Amino acid sequence: MQRAAKTCTSHEVHTGTEVLTSYCEARYSCERRGLGGTMMANTDSIFVGGGGEGYADAQQLLLKYANRHGLIAGATGTGKTVTLQILAESLSNAGVPVFMSDVKGDLSGLAAAGTESHKLHGAFMERAAKIGFSDYSYDAFPVTFWDMYGESGHPVRTTVSEMGPLLLSRLLELSEAQEGILNIAFRVADEEGLPLLDLKDLQSLLVWIGQNAKALALRYGFVSSQSVGAIQRRLLVLENQGAGDFFGEPALDLEDMFHIGADGRGQINVLAADKLMSAPKLYATFLLWLLSELFETLPEVGDPDKPIFVFFFDEAHLLFDGAPKALVDKVEQVARLIRSKGVGVYFITQKPADVPEDILGQLGNRVQHALRAFTRKDQKDLRAAADTYRENPRFDVEDAIKEVGVGEAVTSFLIKKGIPGVVERTLIRPPSSQLGPISAKERRAIIDGSPVAGKYETVMDRESAFEMLAKRAEAAAKAAEEAEAKEEQLEAREREYQTGRRYSGTRVTRSTSKTTRTRRGDTVTEAFTKSMMRSLGTKTGTALVRGIMGSLFKAR
Ligand SMILES: Nc1ncnc2c1ncn2[C@@H]1O[C@H](COP(=O)(O)OP(=O)(O)OP(=O)(O)O)[C@@H](O)[C@H]1O
Ligand SMILES: [Mg+2]
Repeated sequence: MQRAAKTCTSHEVHTGTEVLTSYCEARYSCERRGLGGTMMANTDSIFVGGGGEGYADAQQLLLKYANRHGLIAGATGTGKTVTLQILAESLSNAGVPVFMSDVKGDLSGLAAAGTESHKLHGAFMERAAKIGFSDYSYDAFPVTFWDMYGESGHPVRTTVSEMGPLLLSRLLELSEAQEGILNIAFRVADEEGLPLLDLKDLQSLLVWIGQNAKALALRYGFVSSQSVGAIQRRLLVLENQGAGDFFGEPALDLEDMFHIGADGRGQINVLAADKLMSAPKLYATFLLWLLSELFETLPEVGDPDKPIFVFFFDEAHLLFDGAPKALVDKVEQVARLIRSKGVGVYFITQKPADVPEDILGQLGNRVQHALRAFTRKDQKDLRAAADTYRENPRFDVEDAIKEVGVGEAVTSFLIKKGIPGVVERTLIRPPSSQLGPISAKERRAIIDGSPVAGKYETVMDRESAFEMLAKRAEAAAKAAEEAEAKEEQLEAREREYQTGRRYSGTRVTRSTSKTTRTRRGDTVTEAFTKSMMRSLGTKTGTALVRGIMGSLFKAR
């Protein structure tokens, strides 16, 4: 949806939905109250809240350092989601598109303006006044809803080959040996020109690999059928989690996330993650994939005046829980390098200790909401968190992290020359958009009115590994049938010949080797042919087998 921020009329023309009507009502009421209109502030910073004595000092996130990453942490119910909401609002206003996942569904409220009738209206106004937020107003923001399951947003997909063996192994929780086989599968797919788009492509390629293990062993070493089977079982589990929908085409075009409206506002991409959270590995892997796609797609820009894109990684502990070192190293590397592509990455989690130290060290902008310290371990984590800040003589950081109220935080943002600012106790600004989710009807209207509506809704199933391998198998089966027919012809001739000999009165006992039946009733030659077909299974293979049959025939 292209949101026109300036007037309600153009806004209504664009969508004509209920959401927008309520947005207009909110704007009119704001204007009546003299709260001002849309904040298309042309600034180089984002107002986060008020710190210092009486919360009067504006605490700002400098846009030119917003790509130096960040952390939003705090115990449950302390204000992390609202902080995320206000950062997204301000980044959007500054023309920076963002991505975030919506774990509880409450971030959908970004698409609607806050209202005077909201139960917290009074509290918000009071807070705004306290921190000197004079141009505070209610506003709705341009949101694109995405959903891996295609229910609460546009379907978001990628192909198996784009996901790659490393992330897929992590997703499937494969052992080293199984990961090795997955790597072989990707190599074979490349060499054989078999596109791996959806899960059935990978499944059929693995069947093929199992059947051709012996031939492949010469090139890649031992391929155990148990390991192939284990991967197949993991793929089934993944399918049962609904991930089948995620792999395939049309794959997500990142351009659709970078949208900047005619009003100059950056698009807020919200991924519905409530259902996805029941498959935490899938959730974490998806976000990691998106991050690596951003990394690979975007060009180097050095240090831009403001970020090109900001990526919020909610429930970040899910990414690191039990993650192998290789993966943590990879995330660390991507975080370090993606900065110069103008992408800021903000991790949201309960405790800073959830994020590995090497990565934590790269998070320059921090909003630390209250932490509880019940256990010795909690206390240790709290001390470690406090130790990372530049001290403020006015208060003890450790105490402050324990004491801050809801919607209040211990903050530190990068200042001049990119050095960390002195830590502050900050009252975070109230949101301009609606606190809490929008209705299903409102969400549907936004999805239907979005510029990408219809682009991803229909699955494309072009020819890929599954279809190509099926065709090869069909061709091989046909060749085997032909070979069988020729063999039968051969046997018929042989019988004729035997009858002829019998007529001559001389009984000759022939070697039965050519007609020895195997368990399934095939002759040895047939069995050989079939096994050749199976093991080669390619056009060249078929031609080769035909050649062998031909020469056998001729030899007679
Ligand atoms: N900046 C703020 N301004 C005004 N009210 C706030 C602010 N931050 C938080 N609140 C109040 O605190 C409540 C809880 O905040 P929020 O939902 O952000 O917590 P959370 O840390 O995300 O919790 P959870 O871990 O359960 O998701 C909000 O619903 C709101 O009432
Ligand atoms: Mg929350």
